[in-house]
Amino acid sequence: MTAMVSVRGVHRTYGSGRTAVHALRDVSFDVAPGELVALVGRSGSGKTTLLNVVGGLDRPDEGTVLVDGTEVTALDDGGLVRLRRDVLAFVFQTFGLVPVLSAAENVGVPLRLRATPVAERERRVELLLRLVGLADHADQRPEEMSGGQQQRVAIAAAVANAPRVLLADEPTGELDETTSGQVFEAIRHVNRELGTTTLIVTHDPSVAEHVRRTVQIRDGRTSTEVLRRSTVDEHGREQLVAEEFAVLDKVGRLQLPREFVEALELRDRVRLGLEPDHVSVWPDATEEDR
Ligand SMILES: Nc1ncnc2c1ncn2[C@@H]1O[C@H](COP(=O)(O)OP(=O)(O)OP(=O)(O)O)[C@@H](O)[C@H]1O
Ligand SMILES: [Mg+2]
Repeated sequence: MTAMVSVRGVHRTYGSGRTAVHALRDVSFDVAPGELVALVGRSGSGKTTLLNVVGGLDRPDEGTVLVDGTEVTALDDGGLVRLRRDVLAFVFQTFGLVPVLSAAENVGVPLRLRATPVAERERRVELLLRLVGLADHADQRPEEMSGGQQQRVAIAAAVANAPRVLLADEPTGELDETTSGQVFEAIRHVNRELGTTTLIVTHDPSVAEHVRRTVQIRDGRTSTEVLRRSTVDEHGREQLVAEEFAVLDKVGRLQLPREFVEALELRDRVRLGLEPDHVSVWPDATEEDR
């Protein structure tokens, strides 16, 4: 299947010379149509830079980004404006709602800009508010809503014109646990019901643990990935299985997850074994003799 988002060999450096910051160093990954992926990583690891490069808010120094088949990295300013109007939507930590408008009116703004007929607009606004769990709050203004409710209005507005891709940078960053759970649930609903391919940057483990795929960024590179799937055990109970993957770079380098390294006290040198269908890694048993 063709990827909805395809990032290939992206580098982004801020500044130059001795003060240069290599925010992204050779990042590659794909997001399939309809997928919901969490991007996690420490502060300063390059998550926002990556999201901005994917969304055409920032240009990489090297590498390419394709979104729905369009090469974002080759677009001129006009092309970027069209991309952000027709294909992509953003949600940020701050909600960006119009204070004097109700929830329904805020969600309707992008539809008005498209001159969507009134009846269709009203239907669409109602559907979107229902999707984010705010059907009963249509007439409230932002100041009459909680932070989580405002963020859910912002999500509904972002997907009003049915973008193919939703990019969310710490959408639950300012919110407490319960509220961020509701915001995340709204994003999940939108992803599932509208099929919007979604990339969500988060620090929040309760978000990262509830998506099928989590990509970890470390020092400007994608390092490990966790894929989760549910299986049914012999007693018919559903179980969530998490599998950890590491990214293999062009020359075959691999970063082991820190928990793996610590669990077996791996350091300096490890012993490798090539098996018919896998590679084994052991602590270096000769170490004590050295
Ligand atoms: N406009 C800029 N000019 C110079 N350096 C920048 C700029 N934007 C980001 N950086 C640097 O690039 C690196 C990656 O920043 P980025 O904002 O992508 O990190 P992040 O993973 O989003 O962090 P956080 O979790 O704190 O939001 C950091 O070292 C940051 O200081
Ligand atoms: Mg950031």
